[in-house]
Amino acid sequence: ATETHQQPEVNIGLVGHVDHGKTTLVQALSGSWTDQHSEEMKRGISIRLGYADATFRKCPGVDEPEGFTVDETCPDGSESEALRTVSFVDAPGHETLMATMLSGAALMDGAVLVVSATEQVPQAQTEEHLMALDIIGVENIVIAQNKIDLVDREQAVRNHEQIEEFVEGTVAEDAPIVPISAQQGVNMDLLIDAIEREIPTPDRDEGDAARMFVARSFDINRPGTTWEDLKGGVVGGSLVDGTLEAGEEIELRPGREVEEEGQSEWRPITTEVRSLQAGSQSVDVASPGGLLGVGTGLDPSLTKGDALAGQVAGEPGTLPPTHEAFEMDVELLDRVVGEDGDEIEEISTGEPLMLTVGTATTVGAVTSARSGECEVSLKRPVCAESGSKIAINRRVGARWRLIGIGTLK
Ligand code: GTP
Repeated sequence: ATETHQQPEVNIGLVGHVDHGKTTLVQALSGSWTDQHSEEMKRGISIRLGYADATFRKCPGVDEPEGFTVDETCPDGSESEALRTVSFVDAPGHETLMATMLSGAALMDGAVLVVSATEQVPQAQTEEHLMALDIIGVENIVIAQNKIDLVDREQAVRNHEQIEEFVEGTVAEDAPIVPISAQQGVNMDLLIDAIEREIPTPDRDEGDAARMFVARSFDINRPGTTWEDLKGGVVGGSLVDGTLEAGEEIELRPGREVEEEGQSEWRPITTEVRSLQAGSQSVDVASPGGLLGVGTGLDPSLTKGDALAGQVAGEPGTLPPTHEAFEMDVELLDRVVGEDGDEIEEISTGEPLMLTVGTATTVGAVTSARSGECEVSLKRPVCAESGSKIAINRRVGARWRLIGIGTLK
């Protein structure tokens, strides 16, 4: 049925501790994981922010929530109706990939926090990911209490209580907790029901200027491709406003670094949209939601290896300014998230910070620090609007740890 191929309209982050079952859950809901597809554009986008689309459906004449399904055929043999297609954005569970998690969070309209019923709550990344959602302002959350097939009733109840206690006072305080077994496909109807209620498709104005956050960029040509067959560079990410159309001209900011007479400067890049891949299909017009691959007229060497990740794309002349340095208001966390939970000291002048703004991650040196605000000079500039949220990470031992949240002045 063609309706199964509708464009995804909402991005749902899948977060949670390593091995708690994110991948298994996406498989249960979408029947596939993007790595299995062969198309290069899609494969490229999925590498860093893995994603898969799922179409939620309903069996006619069956009450909610039992009627919710991802199957095209209902138990009575009738055909189910498509409700909407959602795009799952995977957040890697490994803690050193927190920056990727945060840049992914910029693309999330809501999130499913997967918590295993077999372990104590919270595990390290359960806590860290929830904090990231809090910081980035992802408020629509559903908690999937997974692996209930492995615990008895008493354990499940105790684990449920631990989850409730853990989310108290956080952005997930009122989130529904749905017991599931991703592996056995248990309670998928209840989970879809909760997602349908808690994570609505955001109101977007398609008349607004197009704004896309670039999360990946790559070269889809095989080595040795001849010049005539060479395909233009591809950027992947999410359109958060407006629409993009094949044939249209777009600008990318900050763009590229140009050296001239010993001076280096960042200049926006303009190019043509040659093709659009929304979810699993190629389209002429892409609307917001889901992850999008944009084939451009750019020399693929410019897009190779995520060179343009973190940039912002849109109609020429409409994008926010590029900052090589900026001032931000700072709100520090009380403690470092994780087992050690050390206290967080004030930011000091001269220290390096890793900053995530939108999908961009860049290192900055603090040029001036006062209580509650600081100025940083960036190694790589970012394109961002005043008021944007910034995740602030400090080097602690061998790792970058989240220490606070900034707001761009
Ligand atoms: P990362 O991608 O590494 O962060 O892990 P993940 O959260 O995606 O976990 P994954 O889906 O790979 O699941 C981890 C293991 O748990 C696998 O062996 C799954 O088969 C198993 N598993 C996942 N969900 C369930 C469940 O509901 N019940 C049972 N019994 N096992 C499950």
